[in-house]
Amino acid sequence: MASSTTKTPPVSIDNINPKVLNCRYAVRGAIVSHAQRLQNELQTNSDSHPFDEILYCNIGNPQSLGQKPISFFEQVVALLDNPAILKKQQTHSLFKPDAISRASQILEIMPGKATGAYSHSQGVKGLRDAVAAGIQARDGYPANPDDIFLTDGASPGVHKMMQLLIGSEKDGILCPIPQYPLYSAAITLHGGSLVPYYLDEETSWGLEVSEVKKQIEIAKSQGITCRALVVINPGNPTGQVLCEDNQKDIVRLCKEEGLVLIADEVYQENVYVEDKKFNSFKKISRSMGFGDDDITLVSLQSISKGYYGFCGKRGGYMEITGFCREVRDEIYKLSSVSLCSNISGQILSSLVMNPPKEGDESYESYTEEKNTILSSLARRAKILEEAFNSMEGVTCNRAEGAMYLFPRLSLPTKSIQAAKVENIAPDAFYAHRLLDATGIVFVPGSGFGQVDGTWHVRCTILPQEDKIPSIVTLLKAFHQNFMNEFSD
Ligand SMILES: Cc1ncc(COP(=O)(O)O)c(C=O)c1O
Repeated sequence: MASSTTKTPPVSIDNINPKVLNCRYAVRGAIVSHAQRLQNELQTNSDSHPFDEILYCNIGNPQSLGQKPISFFEQVVALLDNPAILKKQQTHSLFKPDAISRASQILEIMPGKATGAYSHSQGVKGLRDAVAAGIQARDGYPANPDDIFLTDGASPGVHKMMQLLIGSEKDGILCPIPQYPLYSAAITLHGGSLVPYYLDEETSWGLEVSEVKKQIEIAKSQGITCRALVVINPGNPTGQVLCEDNQKDIVRLCKEEGLVLIADEVYQENVYVEDKKFNSFKKISRSMGFGDDDITLVSLQSISKGYYGFCGKRGGYMEITGFCREVRDEIYKLSSVSLCSNISGQILSSLVMNPPKEGDESYESYTEEKNTILSSLARRAKILEEAFNSMEGVTCNRAEGAMYLFPRLSLPTKSIQAAKVENIAPDAFYAHRLLDATGIVFVPGSGFGQVDGTWHVRCTILPQEDKIPSIVTLLKAFHQNFMNEFSD
């Protein structure tokens, strides 16, 4: 018989892991939940708000905003999802010959010649061979497939590294501020200390080695040992692309200080300006003559970004170099605990690092699709940057790369006071007002970290190009009204 006394549930907010409670992830935070509520309300009553749709400018999820997947990649994955169709005659009229031959080659190297089996915990060896070949072609320096761990996106690679390096809050991880909140969240979850180093907004979000050194000393004075330095290049949320000399300084610093260099290079294909070029930290360190004995490097890549945008397929890799055999074995053990990453993501990782080559049947369409996406992103970045810079009290560095703009807002004192009354950060107050008035979703800068007393928002450049003019019009009108309403 059921007991009449009400039982307290065994899990409450007071007895869950405090690290979970303290973890924050702004890009899917309060503002996005609010946007989803508004979207539901619009679905039930299209007149419920002064706009017809929610304009998601909050997250780097290209295909959710209409970016077309690259056909070659999609075709190979489709064929491998149902390998039986590889043998059918009709397949030749639906799929390009090089997509069919690539899928057939991949099937041959799969465990059991099937795509539904667990693989080696680092990923299918033949796919890692393809990734290593792609890295080598990109950098001009050798890459070893045994250094590659295929992952479900870059995020699990970051978690793995934090798990490996953090034993207690005495272990510090140097992170750029502003940073992509995966890093702060992962450090909190694994119980370490985030040691901030501030990017310099005045010099286009420049990374000053002297600032990093200063923060290492401050951390030391608090009993914290810095174990790793995270660099996001091209930057999120800041969009800067590091120059070669700066990268060399960073490599030297990591070597001198004995820091693991965690190079988040997920935006390596997203560079929009003529005067900047992406260089991997692997290439830079090798060009300085530094090998495994000099620098310990973790390079992260993802299928979620670039011109591919396969966020939901969850794929990517980390390339680890300069770790001793015993530690590599421990990293392998960590990977084996989750058996393997998903196979479609592994296949896509091999494809993005080895796209069609000149002479392949898909080469022309592939190149056209890729260039269309990247040139449109560059135009969108420019239009949005100019729009922000034309607004009262707003300054915006150019998006040299990645998928975001991070304009600085000089907010009127009265709006800051109004935010205080609502107990939210002034940039969160601004972002909520913007959402309620226009349906545009930006992430408040406070979710990424920023110099005290400065306020920002992060805006993606991902809405389709034909939507950008109306976003600009709505944004400018909202901003002017906001400034007028709260003028001092
Ligand atoms: C800088 C950076 N690193 C890593 C990630 C994680 O991406 P994923 O796990 O989809 O590869 C993101 C996603 O936005 C990002 O911006």
